[in-house]
Amino acid sequence: MTDLSVTVGGLTLRNPVMPASGTFAEGLAQAVDLNALGALVTKTITRELRAGNPLPRVAEVPGGMLNAIGIPSKGVPYFLEHTLPLYRSWTPPVIVSISAPTAEGFAALAAEISVPGVAAIEANISCPNIEEDGKAFAMRPASTEAVVRQLRAATRLPLWVKLTPNTGEIADVARAAEAAGADALVVANTILAMSIDLHTLKPRLGNVMGGLSGPAVKPIVLRQVYQCARAVRTPVIGCGGIATAEDAAEYMLAGAAAVQIGTATFLRPGAMLQIIAGLAQFCAARGFESVTELTGALMREEADDEDLAWVAPTP
Ligand SMILES: Cc1cc2nc3c(=O)[nH]c(=O)nc-3n(C[C@H](O)[C@H](O)[C@H](O)COP(=O)(O)O)c2cc1C
Repeated sequence: MTDLSVTVGGLTLRNPVMPASGTFAEGLAQAVDLNALGALVTKTITRELRAGNPLPRVAEVPGGMLNAIGIPSKGVPYFLEHTLPLYRSWTPPVIVSISAPTAEGFAALAAEISVPGVAAIEANISCPNIEEDGKAFAMRPASTEAVVRQLRAATRLPLWVKLTPNTGEIADVARAAEAAGADALVVANTILAMSIDLHTLKPRLGNVMGGLSGPAVKPIVLRQVYQCARAVRTPVIGCGGIATAEDAAEYMLAGAAAVQIGTATFLRPGAMLQIIAGLAQFCAARGFESVTELTGALMREEADDEDLAWVAPTP
């Protein structure tokens, strides 16, 4: 029997598999035993009430999907009164994903939701920082460090920080989040993308651009998990296109301590449970007594340069 438990970001989880924010809601309990999951991660909440983006908000593309949901939110009082008590009726720790347009807003929200029953906060810093130039906080090390420092000062709960894959300097962003006090890094959110309907000649999303998720993003985000895991000592949680236990094992070999599953659950509600069972089989078949032995166990031909800077192939 493989021990599937992991310690990540200040928490001990019964296994390393949990839903990705926004791709999970309580309705999944009708199809899946939620108590079997490593943790429950909520849809991102904001302080203000938000309606979300214009329709259509999702579009299927080869290898994945685009979404521009826009974080509709019923606000904090609704979350504390209705959503949190419901999520607490299951046994896995509840991770609350939060977002705000300013560092102060992030800190205030983190303080408001640091209540009993919340096991950790996941700061979704892939959202625009309206005090600077509207770029996502996680696009740059300086804005990442500034917002994570404020968050760190606002809560004693474990602080997970979710990065964007759209930056060209993810290892530096990871270092900045670590320096500011993050307990775990979730790598990553969706990749900015778009799709056009050739019948209507219009964008297929009401918001024109949206986030790509699903198997198409896996090789890119896997590389980013690898870069982050080499750059920091803070545990990394891999998230991007994981659909099978083998995908999860790849992420852990690249350095992830745990994984989050999003788009795969839309196609197969039981995907997370299959991944948990498959990870146990994968470890048992290779003689690993603990799933933690997978983390970072990548056998590699080491390059000299620290960040494995990409070298253009010669034609
Ligand atoms: C419909 C949809 C809604 C999402 N909503 C959120 C959200 O509220 N907060 C967040 O941090 N990420 C959100 N994400 C991103 C996912 O949490 C995850 O980072 C991304 O989908 C990559 O994982 P996947 O390829 O397994 O889906 C959303 C993704 C989808 C597809």
